[in-house]
Amino acid sequence: PLRAIDVMLDAPVIPVIVLNDVAHAVPLARALVAGGIRMLEVTLRTPQALACIEAIAREVPEAVAGAGTLRSAADAQAAFNAGARFGVSPGYTSALGQACRDLQLPLLPGVATGSEIMAAMADGLTELKFFPALQAGGTAMLKAWYGPFGDIRFCPTGGVSPANAADFLALPNVACVGGSWLTPADAVAAGDWGRIEALAREASQLKRG
Ligand code: 3PG
Repeated sequence: PLRAIDVMLDAPVIPVIVLNDVAHAVPLARALVAGGIRMLEVTLRTPQALACIEAIAREVPEAVAGAGTLRSAADAQAAFNAGARFGVSPGYTSALGQACRDLQLPLLPGVATGSEIMAAMADGLTELKFFPALQAGGTAMLKAWYGPFGDIRFCPTGGVSPANAADFLALPNVACVGGSWLTPADAVAAGDWGRIEALAREASQLKRG
């Protein structure tokens, strides 16, 4: 089965995707895959999100569709039913962790404090999203956590961009980063898949430390 660490290590960047039109899902996923990015986080922020995950899962076998913005056990179940193969959440509750364990859905839960890291660790999770990364302390926070939580690997997300992604990826406790910059809303709306493929290719070539 797919593990959270596999999701993190497949590419240096997990794209955070917001889709308003199910017709965009498949060409967008193909563009990202063509650029070297297979792990795709489709956020459950739009009414079309679950249908978009279904479409990618059905029609783009080279991609691994995941669901972002999981906030409840019901979200995890809905994502799983749509064909999501991993989940990402903006925070952590044990109820969400339990639901994902029951579904065997790898989860990257969001944390922003030591107590939240410890709550996730208590439930067996060691691969975590740091959210919102820039706003909650950025690379300095990750360096501070490396002492007491040196065995935890993070996916910083929130405020990560081409300008700072390399700084995050250079850290020993960063396995990958997440960000929305690979899928600009205007490029998606215009169907500019070539631009998205190029952004994915640049992102896929970022180096880890
Ligand atoms: C989000 O909240 O949409 C994600 O964390 C991505 O944030 P970003 O737009 O700053 O990359």
